[in-house]
Amino acid sequence: MSSASSTTSETQPIMDLEREFLLQNYARYPLVLDRGEGCHVYDVEGNRYLDFIAGIGVNALGHNHPRIVKVIREQAGLLIHSSNLYYHRYQGPLARKLAEVSGLKRSFFCNSGTEAMEGALKMARAHGNKISPDKFEILSIENSFHGRTLGALSVTGQPKYRHDFEPLLPGIKFLPQNDIAALESAFSQRTAGIVIEWIQGEGGIFPISAEYGRKARELADRYDAFLIFDEIQCGVGRPGTWFGYQLASPVVLPDVMVAAKPLACGLPLGVIVANEKAAAAIGPGMHGSTFGGSALACRVALEFFEILDELMPSIRRVGDYFRARLRELARKHSFIREVRGHGLMIGVDMTVPGKQMVLDAQARGLLMNCTHDTVLRFLPPYIVTEAEVDAAITILDSIFKAQPSE
Ligand SMILES: Cc1ncc(COP(=O)(O)O)c(C=O)c1O
Repeated sequence: MSSASSTTSETQPIMDLEREFLLQNYARYPLVLDRGEGCHVYDVEGNRYLDFIAGIGVNALGHNHPRIVKVIREQAGLLIHSSNLYYHRYQGPLARKLAEVSGLKRSFFCNSGTEAMEGALKMARAHGNKISPDKFEILSIENSFHGRTLGALSVTGQPKYRHDFEPLLPGIKFLPQNDIAALESAFSQRTAGIVIEWIQGEGGIFPISAEYGRKARELADRYDAFLIFDEIQCGVGRPGTWFGYQLASPVVLPDVMVAAKPLACGLPLGVIVANEKAAAAIGPGMHGSTFGGSALACRVALEFFEILDELMPSIRRVGDYFRARLRELARKHSFIREVRGHGLMIGVDMTVPGKQMVLDAQARGLLMNCTHDTVLRFLPPYIVTEAEVDAAITILDSIFKAQPSE
């Protein structure tokens, strides 16, 4: 595999220009990507990388997928965007497909994860408002991540993201994950909703227990509050089921579910999917989006769902294989504490920081990232093969061997 992270002639001016003219909010890796093919990307210097982060879980079919490229080309020549003043051919069929796979009836399309979360919070607030002015509290889980806009940030259970922007929404309570007693005592008649990631992503790949999910369902029913699942990172095929909440048997159905990242294989598309009761909270004029659900994004998402139908067994098989191979590494390298995840959402929890390992992996031709300082996170494309997992494992093993603690 040819790879190197050297910053040569083309790379440096691109980075310099950004440093001069962009908000300096991102700590980008020194890598300028140029094109991709399948599970690989190439930088502007021609170096090739195995892409095991896939645009943070967005590029579900990798890069340059022939069917996705074909429909983008075709639809771009017909109609890209029409606004929600008018109908187009693709929102209805996509919403029907989402209803089939999610078990929830009605969709609202938007453009990103955080925007979907905003809409879901508005649903819970509007529902509470109809019942009592005091019913506005939202419960959320410590260590969660729900987005960067003010509402989504208000329910994000990591103070480091919130503290610069306080005061945020009132009436938010954070609960320890999987603590059923805390969950029971947090609910009251003031609770309008509870927001849960079935598998925390940004927080370090931590699944909730089915028992916890079931208890949240029961309490939401008892207190007439909305159960909202954030499936933005852990949903849409990534866990080897359509959505994370379908990992539980029997399934724990939420009132509202939000998804985004992989939905349109790289085009911005987010969605709120709700049951009839939750959908009724939003009446005419109460919510909207200019860009949401464009013809282009919805058509791509429909094509993606057709492909995903066939990919599901391989997501489970290759995901299991990847975890098994990582567990072999864990037996060899004592600083690996645990390998977690479902399907192709995988975290390697370590006793040492992972930041330098991410750079070392990049220098050897593997893209991954590190979350929560010590968790290596892998969100490879759904088309990844066992052979590509083997290539990643070889690189990881060489990096782990070079650790000072070894
Ligand atoms: C679970 C979860 N919710 C919400 C978001 C926010 O999504 P976006 O960045 O598309 O706004 C993310 C993004 O990483 C996420 O992982």
